[in-house]
Amino acid sequence: MNLKVNLAGVELKNPIIAASGTFGFGKEFSKLIDINQFGAISTKGLTLKPHKGNPSPRIAEVYGGIINSIGLENPGIEHFIENELPFLKQHDIKIIANINGFTKEEFYEITKLIDDSVDLIEVNISCPNVKNGGMSFGTDPNMVYDIIKLVKKAAKVPVIAKLSPNVTSIVDIAKSAQSAGADAISLINTLRAMAIDIKTRKPHIKQIIGGLSGPCVKPIAIRMIYECFNNINIPIIGMGGIMNYKDAIEFFLAGSTCISLGTVNFINPNAILEIKNGIIKYLSDNNFTSIYELRGNIII
Ligand SMILES: Cc1cc2nc3c(=O)[nH]c(=O)nc-3n(C[C@H](O)[C@H](O)[C@H](O)COP(=O)(O)O)c2cc1C
Repeated sequence: MNLKVNLAGVELKNPIIAASGTFGFGKEFSKLIDINQFGAISTKGLTLKPHKGNPSPRIAEVYGGIINSIGLENPGIEHFIENELPFLKQHDIKIIANINGFTKEEFYEITKLIDDSVDLIEVNISCPNVKNGGMSFGTDPNMVYDIIKLVKKAAKVPVIAKLSPNVTSIVDIAKSAQSAGADAISLINTLRAMAIDIKTRKPHIKQIIGGLSGPCVKPIAIRMIYECFNNINIPIIGMGGIMNYKDAIEFFLAGSTCISLGTVNFINPNAILEIKNGIIKYLSDNNFTSIYELRGNIII
């Protein structure tokens, strides 16, 4: 069965991507699984300069998911290119650099430094865990337009806009990204959420509010992908609570060309293999020959 997909001009051997921030730079996971199983890996969010992130505790378990407030802890773009990228390049996977800026100009600068050292750039305009930039950029269609336009000006490789679900109209944001020249969109990032420990009466995470991911967010992701698929014409990378192959099929039916695995990586590192085999079986049992026959193929 052929699982190949074309993501904004880049051919992926299969449509499954490791979601940014849940797979580091691949090294730790490579001790547990063969990371070549993925079609692509989206790196931990990268900033222009090293960034230490938010204070602990910054992860809390809730029903059906987790709330995190990592706050973009990362070693910075130059360290990534020198020390982490060579390891990823040894593998048969496409590499997506997930980038972040605290100002518009930082998005431009970091894109310049990346040059063509990776296969695609994913612009995170949707992180709910940083004070400046992040989600506040991703909820304003004009700001989304400006940032994507700037990144496109500097980029040597295709550009993916990673959108925030913390908006009233995801379609308006997706259209803005598309009209600025985005080659694809990723959705969804995490949803602003909060949990309280009733013994201590303190919020579970130090930042009080964090980003919710995992199976509890899946129906929201499916709805947003469905809405965007019907209103834009660039590929969609769908994510948000994929735990097994049935979830993955749902994301393709809603309109995704690729899917990303995030929270599930913390629970079951073998998910990639199980999901890939499940997709192959589903395609074959239903007489489909490619992901494209499945994509957006729902009956209303
Ligand atoms: C601990 C953690 C860290 C994350 N860090 C990033 C990040 O640096 N950049 C980014 O674009 N998304 C980040 N995300 C969001 C995920 O890539 C993904 O969009 C989200 O978790 C939804 O998918 P899931 O439910 O499968 O986890 C992070 C998510 C988690 C749980």
